[in-house]
Amino acid sequence: MAFTVEEEIKRRRTFAIISHPDAGKTTLTEKFLLYGGQINLAGSVKGKATARHAVSDWMEIEKERGISVTSSVLQFEYDGYCINILDTPGHQDFSEDTYRTLMAADSAVMVIDASKGVEAQTRKLFKVCVMRHIPIFTFINKMDRDANDTFELLDDIENELGIATVPVNWPIGSGKEFKGVYDRNTKCVRMFSDTQKGTKQGEERIVSIDDPALKEEIGQDKYDQLMEELELLDGAGAEFDQELVTAGELSPVFFGSALTNFGVETFLEHFLQMTYSPLPRKSDAGEISPFSEDFSAFVFKIQANMNKAHRDRVAFLRICSGTFDASKDYLHVQGGRKAKLSAPQQMMADERKIVDKAYAGDIIGVFDPGLYSIGDTFTSAKKPFKFEGIPTFAPEHFARVRQIDTMKRKQFMKGITQIAQEGAIQIFQEYNTGMEEIIVGVVGVLQFDVLKYRLNNEYNVEIGLENLPYEHIRWIEGDYDINKISGTSDMKKIKDLKDRPLLLFVNSWSVGMVLDRNDGLVLSEFGTN
Ligand code: G4P
Repeated sequence: MAFTVEEEIKRRRTFAIISHPDAGKTTLTEKFLLYGGQINLAGSVKGKATARHAVSDWMEIEKERGISVTSSVLQFEYDGYCINILDTPGHQDFSEDTYRTLMAADSAVMVIDASKGVEAQTRKLFKVCVMRHIPIFTFINKMDRDANDTFELLDDIENELGIATVPVNWPIGSGKEFKGVYDRNTKCVRMFSDTQKGTKQGEERIVSIDDPALKEEIGQDKYDQLMEELELLDGAGAEFDQELVTAGELSPVFFGSALTNFGVETFLEHFLQMTYSPLPRKSDAGEISPFSEDFSAFVFKIQANMNKAHRDRVAFLRICSGTFDASKDYLHVQGGRKAKLSAPQQMMADERKIVDKAYAGDIIGVFDPGLYSIGDTFTSAKKPFKFEGIPTFAPEHFARVRQIDTMKRKQFMKGITQIAQEGAIQIFQEYNTGMEEIIVGVVGVLQFDVLKYRLNNEYNVEIGLENLPYEHIRWIEGDYDINKISGTSDMKKIKDLKDRPLLLFVNSWSVGMVLDRNDGLVLSEFGTN
């Protein structure tokens, strides 16, 4: 079907999936693809393997080191919608990139394991969603296993994350006793069956709450419990309010079991209705409408090419307005010159393909000759503008870098600066001590290994790392004089490469203490680039 540009943009939904490792993000993504008809039905396992393969194939480095450092972007079609899913890497390869991916999404889906509730990584990613005020949807997964009490799960989200919740459906039992979910809109129960694994046609049986057969099906106890819970919910729970959802202040909650394919399509359908096509983005020339005729995009991620012979990279762009046309040149605003965005590519379900057209909402990866930085804007507009910058996220692990061969200072600085420019690490120096030593900060410890490996492999520089005990970094807002700050014994003053002062702390309580001791001091967990 041919769509106009406006229709193409309107039918786009671009969202990130966030979760703690093992909550079921991969399984849920795979089931979405299944509904989109992108992977073959016979093999849901195969689908998973293929998806994983595609992700880990993206860059040679991953094969070499057996780790996945890439977050992937998948595009698929469902019911007339064109959906872009931004996957956020989890596990030990959690990095600043994971946060940055959220800058490119218009909404987020949070997957929570029903037996675990909110976990550490979800909490961190959630903070970024809140900062951006994007809608957040919750999928409480693994209902086919023994789950925590439903009200407790909701309380946990509200207390841990500080967002109100509104259950769209409500589970009846869990684990072996999982009977299905009650849909609060249609007042019907969708009966659980695990025979739908890996298929999309499986019959879902729906029974009205008023149907006497329901009591028989789920048993008197479960029925009474459901009635009681619904009464409680209607009395005390928040009501659905699209405006609050859109503002990221109310999270619609769904229950299901991704593995058995239960509740996934209902979730997808509601989600698509409750989210919007790409919204305007802020720039230094005001808001840029996605429907503007001019193409515009910003870089949210840079991926190094591990091939030593080419020090080229892939820059990932989020398109914010208009149409991307591979045959055209676009202005790289920060670089001040026109550039052809060569080898544009998109991940489609399980393959990478070269694209010649893409629309606002889409993500493309383009060849970066080493000139682009995170946050850079590209546009075809006659009057160039820059999109609002991407913040720097707080690293949580710090180490002092020791250069083993001190003769290679220049190479070392070049290497470490380039790697920092890609955004996997942040580098700092001692504040006013005259020492030239570099302190490196990372979000996930794996990045320390990546740094060591890459400096050695690509720049021929060997380094040693001495771990530092700091875990909290704070940017100083405004022009508060750092020399006047009265600190705690565990506080350290450092500066970034632009000479901006920052503070490091071992304990989070010292952050509060320093704030108490210094009137007017404002500290931030996010920095500006
Ligand atoms: P992640 O991407 O969030 O890390 O999680 P992933 O989907 O890989 O799921 C983690 C494990 O949880 C997998 O099991 C997966 O099969 C299982 N799982 C996902 N959703 C459900 C669910 O709804 N119910 C149940 N019971 N299990 C679920 P695994 O044994 O670690 O991997 P595999 O051997 O299945 O590949």
